[in-house]
Amino acid sequence: MNGSVLVTKRVYPEAVDFLRTKFEHVDYVASDDGLTPAELLARAKGKQAIVSQLTDKFTPDVIGQLDGVKVIANVAVGFDNVNVPAATGKGILVTNTPDVLTETTADFAWSLLMAAARRVVEGHAFVHSGAWKRWTIDLLVGEDVHHRTIGIFGMGRIGQAVARRALGFSMRVLYHDAERVAADIESALKLEFVDKERLLKESDYVSLHVPLLDSTRKLIGEPELKLMKPSAILVNTARGPVVDEAALAAALKAGVIRSAGLDVFEREPEVHPELLTLPNVVLAPHIASASIATRRRMSMMAAENAVAAVAGERPPNLVNRDLWRD
Ligand code: GLV
Repeated sequence: MNGSVLVTKRVYPEAVDFLRTKFEHVDYVASDDGLTPAELLARAKGKQAIVSQLTDKFTPDVIGQLDGVKVIANVAVGFDNVNVPAATGKGILVTNTPDVLTETTADFAWSLLMAAARRVVEGHAFVHSGAWKRWTIDLLVGEDVHHRTIGIFGMGRIGQAVARRALGFSMRVLYHDAERVAADIESALKLEFVDKERLLKESDYVSLHVPLLDSTRKLIGEPELKLMKPSAILVNTARGPVVDEAALAAALKAGVIRSAGLDVFEREPEVHPELLTLPNVVLAPHIASASIATRRRMSMMAAENAVAAVAGERPPNLVNRDLWRD
């Protein structure tokens, strides 16, 4: 196939090998550093496709200068790093990597939930430091998970996978979303649709699975944290700006809620300094989808989306579907 593709950052090698069998030219930036907007624009010149990652910021200004680019193929399910209306306005297809990471991400949300509830990281540090001298009745006691209530914000694919796991722990599952899911899903997963306030007041665990939109930015801030139980645990594997990080740090410090498990942050890779000092938070570096199999498949999916778009076919995971007329 004629054409050139830019891969902005290191991906799994099979994706690059595949692109090399399809494109005449593959400009592979085999580094983890990421490109500055100026570097991105310079390297994008003459390319028909860009395989990007969530650290690449496609602002309206950047998109406005992407002449000749047919597709931005993001190696992520989230695409808040791409201004989709601007891409649509310029006729650039945007694709993502859904489904493949659903179960992997749900597994990780549960890892954070369990680790925070049962104080796994504190226990590890305790043993590691040599502080463990004897068994005592209340050493590092935490919260039960089974038979408690989990409240899920966002009942899309990942929210549903989290809810499915909750059934195995005999939990009550509340959820809130902009729209209710179909009745058969609600009954299969034993879901109760509730308003935001009830979810916050009644849940022992609150797990976030919403995309980052204007309407979900700071979904959890000081007022919401105050509605939660003092024993509640917050889990965020969605996007950092969905939570007001400063408000969360203050709430964790003051005991407004018990603890949190966080995989995403407002200004990654920066973390609010207070969070780094608190024992009652489990922190991870945005790795919820990071199983080997899933990250390999995500790399390949983005490559496949790029190839399809440049070949004039509908990419399998098109985000701005209004650009496609069959
Ligand atoms: C990861 O955060 C993703 O959106 O895939």
